[in-house]
Amino acid sequence: MENRSAQVRDLRTDYTSRSLSESEVDANPFVQLDQWLAEAIEAKALEPNAMVVSTLGDDGFPASRVVLLRGLSAEGLNFYTNYDSQKGTEIAAHPKVSACFFWPELERQIRISGTCHKLSDEESDAYFASRPAGSQLGAWASPQSQTLPSREALETILEEVKAKYEGQDAIPRPPHWGGYRIVPHRIEFWQGRASRLHDRIVFHKQGEDWQSSRLAP
Ligand SMILES: Cc1cc2nc3c(=O)[nH]c(=O)nc-3n(C[C@H](O)[C@H](O)[C@H](O)COP(=O)(O)O)c2cc1C
Repeated sequence: MENRSAQVRDLRTDYTSRSLSESEVDANPFVQLDQWLAEAIEAKALEPNAMVVSTLGDDGFPASRVVLLRGLSAEGLNFYTNYDSQKGTEIAAHPKVSACFFWPELERQIRISGTCHKLSDEESDAYFASRPAGSQLGAWASPQSQTLPSREALETILEEVKAKYEGQDAIPRPPHWGGYRIVPHRIEFWQGRASRLHDRIVFHKQGEDWQSSRLAP
């Protein structure tokens, strides 16, 4: 581990390829987010729609995990998961969350704070119906975040679920599985710059409007 400490201490990337100024950032942070996401997809970033979502536990500890952004609109950012998972139960108790995108290929980060709302049954049904059958069965089979006695135990549940839905045209959405929309009140765009003097432009929601300002790196 000492070797690794020495190794990571000396890892350094200087960010020199881009900048972000007040004049080029869109006045609507959703438009800017949409543009950066498009550029991450265009740049062939690995999992460009992956974001780290952090929730707060009753024990006072925040917990973070990666989820995939599955919808973006002027209302917010959608993702799908198991409502009974750790994140699901934490969101039910504390709906204020943070989300963070990192696109190393573009030397960019977006940080979001907002409030999570469950999507309507219709929205979750529509997305669930678009998933591959294997993922649909997996949503039924996995008691996400619960302790499992073994890998085999999960595979046994999966076999039971497969047998149950064998020959059915459509697999219904499990009641414990669906979407959330993060409705942001703060969105920060971070563009890496040389010598750690990065650009940071943050938007805060003020009533119906967004106010932006520059933060020190
Ligand atoms: C690239 C990537 C994408 C993921 N996407 C999702 C997702 O969209 N939904 C989800 O529930 N879990 C997703 N996961 C798994 C989560 O990170 C996490 O392990 C799981 O949701 C359980 O989290 P929890 O116990 O904190 O609720 C993804 C993991 C990775 C690495």
